[in-house]
Order: sequence, then structure tokens, then C-alpha cells
Amino acid sequence: MADFTPRTIIEPFRIHSVEPLRLTSEAQRRAALVDAGYNLFNLRAADVLVDLLTDSGTGAMSRDQWAAIQRGDESYAGSPSWFIFRDAVQELFPFRHVIPTHQGRAAERILFSAIGGPGKVVPNNTHFDTTRANVEATGAEAVDLVIPEGREPQSDHPFKGNMDVAALDELLAERAGDVPVVMMTITNNSGGGQPVSMANLLAVREVCDRYGVPLFLDACRFAENAWFIREREAGMGDRDVRDIVREIAAVADGMTMSAKKDPMGNIGGWLALDDDALAEQCRNLLILTEGFPTYGGLAGRDLEALAQGLHEVIDHDYLRYRIRSTAYLGDALQRVGIPVVTPIGGHAVYLDARALLTHLDPLQYPGQALAVALYEVGGVRGCEIGTVMFGRGPDGSEQPAAMDLVRLAIPRRTYTQSHMDYVIEVCDEVARRAPDLPGYRITDQPAALRHFTASFEPVP
Ligand SMILES: Cc1ncc(COP(=O)(O)O)c(C=O)c1O
Repeated sequence: MADFTPRTIIEPFRIHSVEPLRLTSEAQRRAALVDAGYNLFNLRAADVLVDLLTDSGTGAMSRDQWAAIQRGDESYAGSPSWFIFRDAVQELFPFRHVIPTHQGRAAERILFSAIGGPGKVVPNNTHFDTTRANVEATGAEAVDLVIPEGREPQSDHPFKGNMDVAALDELLAERAGDVPVVMMTITNNSGGGQPVSMANLLAVREVCDRYGVPLFLDACRFAENAWFIREREAGMGDRDVRDIVREIAAVADGMTMSAKKDPMGNIGGWLALDDDALAEQCRNLLILTEGFPTYGGLAGRDLEALAQGLHEVIDHDYLRYRIRSTAYLGDALQRVGIPVVTPIGGHAVYLDARALLTHLDPLQYPGQALAVALYEVGGVRGCEIGTVMFGRGPDGSEQPAAMDLVRLAIPRRTYTQSHMDYVIEVCDEVARRAPDLPGYRITDQPAALRHFTASFEPVP
């Protein structure tokens, strides 16, 4: 008889310690929104019921990670925890140099301070906001070259994170001398958490080789990406995720990493690369602001927790649960008629605010309007990924972003299926109220990365 295959997505863990959640009323949440200038980053987390702002650093660590924390050795230089961390990184990403940083953007700042600068151009499938900001802060230009399907919320291409190889070829034919690196973001967070195929990575590598340009990964969600490759790419179905990850690494010359995602850390990151001279330059920059090269901006205990997290994240039972439970939320939202980016990505479900709030112009920030409503109605905190985040050019001009999305990012191993059922109900209620939701205008904003700190007011 065939094995029983349950429909229920069973979490491959049980709860070991709990954190209380506080229930609030709509009136209390409306007051909190006013205090926060309608910016969900300004809310007190204690006023949020289900926090889907980000999957970054918000996951639950395992029993074995907490145990590893106890082993953390805080020696300034050459701590055993450093070697455990370095070996765990190199087991998956065998680059010659591993440079620990306090989080992903520190790795980006160091890399682009070394290789960026005015006149340079950095292609990426889609830059994440901090990556773009770190490229642009050096005076270089950040160019997104995702395939056209990657910009269409409802296209069902299985690898919507892929780079447009022809467009990359064209750019390099014209300006290879100005391109210090080609980046590939796996999975493509800003484009909907969509994966990149192995075939595309190899094709990008071939173009880079032809023009003599190095290829780096922004690999925050490498394990989720590898799982999608295993599930969706021909000939990959029997492969071990560990091998797929190593094959991805072999395509690249280096990587930036936020260890707050797939490595299951609450903090951490790294820069890894093969080029000796560039590594030395980066280590010197690291010492200026992050710390000594055997700890970067991290404590020994953080390094231990990350090493353990890297062993756990490539577990097939975990990845199957992770990807299926994200799809559970996305599929249910579609069933109640909420437009979402499809196929459902790895770490998040992206609501298509522009398609839902058709009465709002993109410059009235439909993503912001939807994110505020989700909080007001149900205490669910998501994140606008649209014109607020990407709509302002380096010269201060304002234009609609390619899409206006709200990302519901799912912290790893943190919420149960009943939390997700609650989120589905809240989204359904917000969709009912959609025609009456106001747009927003910005009343105050900083020069860069405005979505973190800008203030808004509703436009009736
Ligand atoms: C694709 C991508 N790159 C880079 C970063 C930046 O990492 P960090 O937040 O650790 O600085 C993030 C964070 O969300 C990300 O999703």
C-alpha cells in the first residue's frame, strides 16, 4: 500500500517556548497609526498582532541554536566560534575568503565602497532597497534587468527572478568596462520572492565570462531558491539541496549575505569572495567600522547560532514545509479574490495593491494604503514594496514603481497555521473595504531609503 500523504501541512517542529501576543481594538490601532505618522516601521511591535513586516531576523531559533549560543566563545581574535562559522559557510559556499558582518547591508557597503564609484554601473536581476542604496551611495548606477515576466504580477513563469540575459549582454557590450560586478539576488525579494533557475545562473555566468566581469550573489534566501530549483527545474527533482546550493555557489565569484534570512539568525551577515586583492581591501574596510576579521560585527555566540542555522535550513522537511506554508497563505488569498503575485514566492506573499485599489493613482501610494488598512483592521503588519520604496529617483524626482505591492513576509518557524487563517480573514475584510480606502501623501521624508522613516497623511 502507498504511504499515507496528508493534506495538512505539518510544521516539522513543536513549540518549546512561547511569546505572548497582545490583542488591541481598531480604535487603539487607529491611534497608534496617527502616532506613527502612518508609517508601519514607526509602530511599537507590542501593538502588532501578527508581524509580517519582514522575515529578516524575526525567525524562531531552534533548541540547537540556543545550545550553540552557550558555546559562543568571545575571544577577540581567532575564536573557535569563528572557525565553526567559517566552515559552515564554506561547506555550502566554498569561496576562499569569508568576511563576517553585522548584517547584509554592511557586506554591501563594504563591497560597493571597494568596487563602486561614479561612472560605474551595477546590473542585478532586481536590487533590494539596501543594495540599490549602497550602490548609489558610491555614485554608481544600479540597473534592474529582471525578465519581463518578473514585472508582471500575474505571469506564471516558474522562475520570475531570472535575469534578462539578452539585456545583460546588451549592457555589457556597451559598458563592460564600467561594470565592476553583476549581481544576482536569490530569491528576488523586491520582485516577489521569486526564484532564479540554475539554467539562468549558468547563462548569466557565460555572459559575464565573455566580458570578463565577475558575478556575485545576493544570496539571502539561497535555500528557498534551491528548493524551487529542485521542485521546478527539469532533472533536479532527486537532488540534495546541499548539492544544489554548492552548484549555485560554483557559478559565482562571491556573495553578499544577510544571515537574518535563510541562515536562521536574528542578526548577522557576510561577504565571501575568491579574489585575494579585493578581499584584503574589503577586510581593511571591515576593520574600520565592523570589527576584526574573525568576528566582523558579531559576537561569538551569533557566529555559533548561524553555523547551526546553516545546517538546519537545508533540511528537506523544513524547506518543504516552508514553501508549502507560504503557498497556503497565497492560495487562500486568491480564493477570496485578492490579487497576489503568482506563482507564490518563498518567504512572502505579495498583495497587488495597485490591482486591488484601482481608485488610487500610484503616486497616492496604494501599497501604503493597503498596508495601513491591514494594520488598522486586524493588527497585521506588512510592508509596502512599491512607489514609496522605489518611486524617488536619485535626483528627487517621483515616478510610479514597476508594481505597488504589499509584502506579507513570513518569519521562519514563528507563526502557526491558525495565525495565517486569521491573516486571511483580515485580508478578506480589507478587500471588502477597498473602494473606501484613502490614498496617502508624504509629509516628511529623508534623502534616501525613505520608506523606513517618512511620515504620511491620508488623502481623503
Ligand atoms: C535580497 C536582500 N538583500 C539584502 C538585504 C539586506 O540585508 P540586511 O537587512 O541584513 O542588511 C535584504 C534584507 O531584507 C534582502 O532581502
